[in-house]
Amino acid sequence: MPIGPNCLITGASSGLGRALALALATPGRRLFLGGRNESRLAETAALCQARGAVIASAAIDVTDADAMRDWIAGAGRLDLVIANAGISAHTAGTSDPRIIFATNLGGMLNTVLPALEAMARQSPDAEGKRGHIAAINSLAAFVAAPDAPAYCAAKAAADRWILAAAPSAERNAIHLTSVCPGFIKTPMTDAHDHPKPGMMSAGRAASLVLAGISRNRRRIAFPHTLYFAGRFLDLLPPRTAARLLSRGSNRGSD
Ligand SMILES: NC(=O)c1ccc[n+]([C@@H]2O[C@H](COP(=O)([O-])OP(=O)(O)OC[C@H]3O[C@@H](n4cnc5c(N)ncnc54)[C@H](OP(=O)(O)O)[C@@H]3O)[C@@H](O)[C@H]2O)c1
Repeated sequence: MPIGPNCLITGASSGLGRALALALATPGRRLFLGGRNESRLAETAALCQARGAVIASAAIDVTDADAMRDWIAGAGRLDLVIANAGISAHTAGTSDPRIIFATNLGGMLNTVLPALEAMARQSPDAEGKRGHIAAINSLAAFVAAPDAPAYCAAKAAADRWILAAAPSAERNAIHLTSVCPGFIKTPMTDAHDHPKPGMMSAGRAASLVLAGISRNRRRIAFPHTLYFAGRFLDLLPPRTAARLLSRGSNRGSD
């Protein structure tokens, strides 16, 4: 099913969010792009405009629930909302779990909840769908990596919440998707010096995400080998899994 013309993306000023914006930037498309860094956001907007899309950018912090609600409620019809903004301890400069949860879980909810409300008021499109909301979570959701406890826990909670909330949203013709990528080459992974098996470009990841969204997938997880390895690790006794995860990493802290 083709993706509709009006799309909103948080964290569009960098990495995967920018790649998603570029992949969606076609003539006839209206993109609402969010991020905190105004100059990097303007760069994304200019690149998308050059591809023929109409852009409305907003320098908004996803942890600001009121600003997010006003932005999303004021956007008009939204066919796709992607809650992509996220931090790691390295990009945030802190391993304080409260800060990582506030962005990776709270920021996701500050995007998805007003999007659900706005889409519930929209009429269904030709396919009978009111809208689609995707949260960019992570394969980290399926492991308890000792060097990234807050990141893993926030992504795990975000993935579970999306999957658990999806059936009732779908009864209202709104599709929810949890996206769980492995390593993607972005400033986030550039900040870590540990091994990154199966790392792919942001452009390749964006096309896998959008292909899965077009197919109304509830969870999009890639690469498959890393996904299944993570699921297997989670079946092991916690100390064994932690030893194996620590062996594959030389990171300092979350
Ligand atoms: N890279 C990977 O290997 C990988 C793997 C799995 C999942 N992910 C997830 O993919 C998403 C994108 O990450 P990335 O790799 O593209 O990282 P990135 O290059 O560091 O980009 C993160 C984006 O999130 C935005 N952001 C962070 N905190 C924000 C806040 N409080 N309010 C608004 N925007 C905020 C940043 O914008 P500003 O700096 O302008 O605020 C930036 O645009 C994240 O959710 C990440 O957890 C990444």
